Amino acid sequence: MANAFVAGNWKMNTSISEATMLARSLRSGLLGIDGVTQVICPPFVSLAGVAAELAGSNIKVGAQNMHSEIKGAFTGEIAGSMLKGICDYVILGHSERRQLLGEMDDFINAKVRTALETGITPILCVGETLEQRDNGEAAAIVQGQLQGGLLGLSAEQIEQSVVAYEPVWAIGTGRAATPEMAQEMMGLIRQEVGRLSSVGIASNVPLLYGGSVNTENCLHLASLKDLDGALVGGASLKPDDFVAITKAFGTRI
Ligand code: 13P
Repeated sequence: MANAFVAGNWKMNTSISEATMLARSLRSGLLGIDGVTQVICPPFVSLAGVAAELAGSNIKVGAQNMHSEIKGAFTGEIAGSMLKGICDYVILGHSERRQLLGEMDDFINAKVRTALETGITPILCVGETLEQRDNGEAAAIVQGQLQGGLLGLSAEQIEQSVVAYEPVWAIGTGRAATPEMAQEMMGLIRQEVGRLSSVGIASNVPLLYGGSVNTENCLHLASLKDLDGALVGGASLKPDDFVAITKAFGTRI
């Protein structure tokens, strides 16, 4: 079974000083919670400060994006090599980037490969829109995004990755997927990851759910068979809530 895993995606929130303070609160709040991989993903400008604040703790730092190229004329972009040493994880293919910035599977796949080659663990995000769910296309969309995102990876590389299922209609809306919906899709994701690697490897890949995870629904979500953890947006900005959610996944057996 994959380790329990909780990651906070701060998105485009917090000033540099707010980020450091939030990291400090989380450091003391999360102290002593064992058996859960804990990751926080602040904005780029705060990564170094947050990493310094968390030095020596169990909390890992992740970036919210990176470019697929190693260096060069890509104004405004950040390369994996620049994150190395600060970040252990990077969120890739988040639906906000797919939808608002037009990121496609092939670009996301190139980033996933570069992250792995750089020694940074990709958290590959997949998920359908409401329209796609209503049209009965959710499974096919998620399957396609998985195939696209993990294309060309060896089984070993897949084993070093994390997958997050974030239905677009559940992000920031307060309307989380029902536990039944989440389990159904997470089971399909486990199956597809297994088909692309092996059943044994798929059971080791942490599968996260994201989309309106909060202190109320986290215990139920944590009890689901194929859900190893959460990718938390809004609630990750509230230290007490993020700590409670992390604890809930720590109870997972
Ligand atoms: P919310 O938890 O705010 O719905 O955001 C989820 C998300 O997009 C995490 O990456």
